[in-house]
Amino acid sequence: MKRRKGGTSYPPGPSSWPFFGNLLQVDFHKLPRSFDQLSKKFGNVFSFQLGWINLVVVNGYDAVKETLVTKSEDTSDRPSMPLMKKMGFRKDCEGIVMARYGRGWKDTRRFTISTLRNFGLGKKSLEERVTEEASCLCAAFETQDGCPFDPHFLINNAVSNVICSIVFGDRFEYDDEKFQRMLHIMEESLKTGTGLLPQVMNLFPVLVHVPFLMRKVFQPQEDIYCFMKEIIKEHQKTFDPATTRDFIDAFLVEMEKTKDNPSDTFSLDNLIITAGDLFGAGTETTSTTLRWGLLYMILYPDIQSQVHKEIDTVIGRSRRPTMADQINLPFTNAVIHEIQRCGDIVPLSLPHMTSCDTEIQGFFVPKGVGIFINLTSVLKDKTLWERPHQFYPEHFLDANRNFVKRDAFMPFAAGRRVCLGEQLARMELFLFFTTLFQRFTFTIPKNQARPRDDPFYAFTQSPHPYQICAELR
Ligand code: HEM
Repeated sequence: MKRRKGGTSYPPGPSSWPFFGNLLQVDFHKLPRSFDQLSKKFGNVFSFQLGWINLVVVNGYDAVKETLVTKSEDTSDRPSMPLMKKMGFRKDCEGIVMARYGRGWKDTRRFTISTLRNFGLGKKSLEERVTEEASCLCAAFETQDGCPFDPHFLINNAVSNVICSIVFGDRFEYDDEKFQRMLHIMEESLKTGTGLLPQVMNLFPVLVHVPFLMRKVFQPQEDIYCFMKEIIKEHQKTFDPATTRDFIDAFLVEMEKTKDNPSDTFSLDNLIITAGDLFGAGTETTSTTLRWGLLYMILYPDIQSQVHKEIDTVIGRSRRPTMADQINLPFTNAVIHEIQRCGDIVPLSLPHMTSCDTEIQGFFVPKGVGIFINLTSVLKDKTLWERPHQFYPEHFLDANRNFVKRDAFMPFAAGRRVCLGEQLARMELFLFFTTLFQRFTFTIPKNQARPRDDPFYAFTQSPHPYQICAELR
């Protein structure tokens, strides 16, 4: 690994133990912090070993941009994990999120982007769906009557309903127990799927024969796929190629079109994985960001009242917010960006892998090396942000209080694997946030301690549970 190519060397890193590599030297429950400490010692591009698997961790805006954008063609693969095969993944049938960089991923991603775009232009636009769901969320908050409550699962359900209405053509009531269970399972699968156990099982695939371990790691994912299968089966029963109701129908149409030339990409198995990907990637992320948003607003009531004031002036109290209002709400827009920057909800992005030998910041990185992109190091890069560790919306405002874009604002990553749902997520964040703050003032419940604002890490970074009071304005 330390071999040289054209004078460049493999990135430095901590010395590793035989067999385990650096597996026991990092805390998988605080991975971003472990990487932060290692980068202080070894620099912006350092190496690391999980057992015998070689990894490189990339930190800071310049190195991350070079890796994701300039070297995108070389770094857009995903590591293949033995556990994936056990979940039914095979060549060209791996959905999008964890798919290897190749034909199957390209076709599924292209199809999904164009289908999402088509639904945006359909008879009920995506914007309308989000606004309607935001109103349902407001109604649910109103029933709390100003009493303390934890907004977590209401927000989760509302956000999930947007992606559900695109993928399944349906939304779920906030008291639907089966759906609530599904949302809990999804959270659970994030926790179990990103801890130490699955890493160890990937290293020692023989462990998949231990039923207890298998159940622990796979059960949540299995449950999600079962839920998808049921919904897809219902769609097949009522399928009419002349009317495409949602993403699943669009996929079934594509399967029909390619039936004389069947591929693993437009197959039932790939539909299950892709629908699961959209459901998973489209729920937890946006919902966690909104939870950070409510938390920051109760922690910083001055900022909340400036948001109220701007919404009152530009939209008023009765008209529903629309995306066209965004340009006229520079402060609110800056606050939403700062929520994403500080919330930093996917601190290590998703794992990448080199598909050929390449160079990053002058270091040689051979084909097949896993790459961790440290997004925290970009969103909180102290050379680029005036107050990297403070909630400071002025990061996104110029001297005249106009909104300014910042290059180091990269919560959706960048390059070929950039978040597929970025546009949808931005729309959801803006419409949910403005609709909620048009209607309510949010406060810390009386006699309750100030909620903590440090993150809980389990692949995503989320706030610790907290309660709020929602007073109608
Ligand atoms: C991938 C962030 C919302 C679908 C990603 C990645 C990040 C990210 C960092 C990894 C990019 C990489 O591998 O370099 C976010 C954030 C969101 C959000 C911060 C909300 C605030 C959504 C939504 C959807 C979605 C609403 C639903 C359509 C996906 C998919 C991928 C992805 C399918 C995999 C893309 C690929 O591998 O080609 N997202 N995401 N995301 N996201 Fe999002």
